[in-house]
Amino acid sequence: MKVKIVGGPSSTKLAELISLQGNLPIVRVGYKRFPDGEFYFRFEEDIEGQDLLIVQSLYPPSDAHILELLMMIHGAKDLKAGSIGLFIPYLAYSRQDQRYLSGETISSAMLADLIQATGASYLYTVDIHDKAVLHRYRIPAFNLTASKELALYFERKGLRDPIIIAPDDEEDARERARVAAETIKGEYDCLTKRRDRQTGEIRTLEKRLRVSGRDAIIIDDIISTGGTAANAVRILKKQGARRVFVGATHALLIGNALELLKEAGADEVVGTDSVPGDVAKVTTANLILKALEEHRWL
Ligand code: R5P
Repeated sequence: MKVKIVGGPSSTKLAELISLQGNLPIVRVGYKRFPDGEFYFRFEEDIEGQDLLIVQSLYPPSDAHILELLMMIHGAKDLKAGSIGLFIPYLAYSRQDQRYLSGETISSAMLADLIQATGASYLYTVDIHDKAVLHRYRIPAFNLTASKELALYFERKGLRDPIIIAPDDEEDARERARVAAETIKGEYDCLTKRRDRQTGEIRTLEKRLRVSGRDAIIIDDIISTGGTAANAVRILKKQGARRVFVGATHALLIGNALELLKEAGADEVVGTDSVPGDVAKVTTANLILKALEEHRWL
């Protein structure tokens, strides 16, 4: 039996694309917000015994999108769906994967508990900030990467001697850069970043990179305030990079992040449809379809 796609309010277009590309039926749903802000959700067809894939990315307002997701899972479970798969391209709260300061709530663990308690069967996400978060799940939980797709997008720009740059040297960041570099048969390198846990202030250490006269592509999982990527763009420009592109799986672009990046000298900022918007030029639809097929959920 084919998985049926449920488009959550945050990801309706992506759900439609998955349905179209995968030739998978889409479930009719209805939802609204009451005047007091409470959410209402209804499956408008019988889902008993059906295998579902709920598509709902948790970009800001994350807390509202989480509640919507939980209501969809709860409804599906209550109405006796066969299995309840989740595609959550942006899994919010994945940066708090441990207690950095005493007394903190480990928010990624809280979210995992809620998703499982409500009745999800399995979960796919994309470029999760820290893969360790997935160990919080007792249901099958997988991370996909959009690095290849982002790299292919930039490759179409006719790159000159390209180099991929990770804006920090954490293992996951390096791995994303490595995949992107392999895709365009280029090199990769990384910068080193320090974040003050109390103030949130970011400092990128200046390191000599071989970027002079070359096109550089910064690959990151998230652009939030834009501070991390803007620091990297400035360093690359200062060291003589010809063009600097920024590709992020989750371009949240909070506040004036996009202007900050442009002012720093970024030639283009590109994200995926994990976060809908003007810069979402790369889709994650093919990633989930391939994964569903590989894991035989289709
Ligand atoms: C953190 O280490 C992530 O990989 C991103 O680099 C970070 O979340 C981006 O945040 P911002 O845009 O606020 O610097």
